[in-house]
Amino acid sequence: MPTRPPLPLDADRVLKLAAQSMFDTFANTAMGTMVVDREHRIVWISEGYKRFLPALGHAEADFVGRRVEDVVPNTLMAHVVDTGQAILVDLLTNHAGTFLVSRLPLRDENGTVIGAFGMVLLDHPETTMQPLIGKFSRLQRELDDTRRALAAERRPKYTIASFVGSSAAALEVKRQARRVAGTDSTVLLLGETGTGKELLAHAIHAASQRAARPFVGVNIAAVPDTLLEAEFFGVAPGAYTGADRKGRDGKFKLADRGTLFLDEIGDMPLALQSKLLRVLQEQEFEPLGSNRVERVDVRIVAATSRDLAAMVDAGSFRADLYYRLNVLPIRLPALRERLEDLEALVEVLAEDIARRSGLPHKALSSEALELLAAQAWPGNIRELRNVLEQATLMTDDALLDARHFAAALRLEAAPAARAPAAPPTLPAAPPPAAPAAAAALRPLPEQVAELERSAIAAALRATAGNKVAAARLLKVSRAAFYDKLARYPDLVSTPVD
Ligand SMILES: Nc1ncnc2c1ncn2[C@@H]1O[C@H](COP(=O)(O)OP(=O)(O)OP(=O)(O)O)[C@@H](O)[C@H]1O
Ligand SMILES: [Mg+2]
Repeated sequence: MPTRPPLPLDADRVLKLAAQSMFDTFANTAMGTMVVDREHRIVWISEGYKRFLPALGHAEADFVGRRVEDVVPNTLMAHVVDTGQAILVDLLTNHAGTFLVSRLPLRDENGTVIGAFGMVLLDHPETTMQPLIGKFSRLQRELDDTRRALAAERRPKYTIASFVGSSAAALEVKRQARRVAGTDSTVLLLGETGTGKELLAHAIHAASQRAARPFVGVNIAAVPDTLLEAEFFGVAPGAYTGADRKGRDGKFKLADRGTLFLDEIGDMPLALQSKLLRVLQEQEFEPLGSNRVERVDVRIVAATSRDLAAMVDAGSFRADLYYRLNVLPIRLPALRERLEDLEALVEVLAEDIARRSGLPHKALSSEALELLAAQAWPGNIRELRNVLEQATLMTDDALLDARHFAAALRLEAAPAARAPAAPPTLPAAPPPAAPAAAAALRPLPEQVAELERSAIAAALRATAGNKVAAARLLKVSRAAFYDKLARYPDLVSTPVD
């Protein structure tokens, strides 16, 4: 009778042996292995693993038994236990170095996760796994640099003390700014172009509880109407094909727990005003192409040089949004309303101009200051800065005198850029001389074009090249301004801020 072959081992036993021998193989061949339990506690480490302990700053006795996330920075072992999902290959970087690692969940006979098994496959993979690791570290570095640059960008540039001036009007602005900084309410900054609304918005953020969180600004006038909604609320992944396929966070999301500065709020299209109102009331919104509601905690500072109340009357600004924004209005005085601050402003601006241009600091003679005090300053502090800059660059003299300002100011004197009322310090201007008959008899279109050109030039100078502000000064729409500007291409080279 043939002898019977030995009984086959049962499948269960094979599996158990396989598991045991694989475990032993891994434990012996990997550079280091560890096992954690369901509570993430390290229950065992291999002999090999012990070599990493000094770099991790632990002795075996205060390593085994601890929760893995408390002793191994950046580990994902706990994540593997909690999700039951293996991470077959990963790079782990912490102060002990960079490691190629693998992590597997451990399950009992019912399939319940009872812990995880982790292996260090390679240490110093940078030497054995070039160029993959090179690429990884380059991307990581780029990401770190970008994060740092973004953080620096969002750090407040100004404090309340940067708002220069000790006139009653300036002190009142600073008092109000300090008061609102302590609250979470919406702030509305009102004032002519160049009066420091943006500066104050930064300063309020810097003085608030949110100072360590982002300050995010949107210039509503500078974003085309059709893109504003995406700019505010973001775009859900897959909402569009192409560049935005991955989705993009909107400014509300970026400003979460910080401050969102809505500059030129008067330029907000009506259709979007109601959506904004909803976000202000609910602190929640839906990104474009998504039906998921996102919640944010954002403090709003809005600014405009427009007369919002008049816009409400004219039906171009929603009354309910206006009341919602107008909780804590701060009106910034025009420069001509606080001429006693002129000298201090000149001092600070001249210093800043010197620092940025690398030129020596220049002082002003008392005649120069008198001349400056006699101006109407429709472009306010931005215009003052611009005039100072021009005078500084025009001469090597260390003392700026009235004559140094004459050229810049003569250009400013174009009628369209003057404020309607002459400041009280000015002697009454002589009535304009009757135009010579010959000049008046030139073709009307030619004369009109000349006047238009000089008005546009003056407005651009007054606003240091800020086209939106220049359009506002001339009381024409942005579109009309760009249209007219296209007819005088030589004006476009005016410096832009
Ligand atoms: N009180 C101030 N002290 C020092 N600098 C100031 C002050 N106010 C404004 N400035 C300077 O004047 C320039 C214009 O200020 P800012 O951009 O804040 O004005 P704005 O009110 O936002 O103008 P616009 O309505 O045209 O946007 C900036 O260079 C700013 O630093
Ligand atoms: Mg501004």
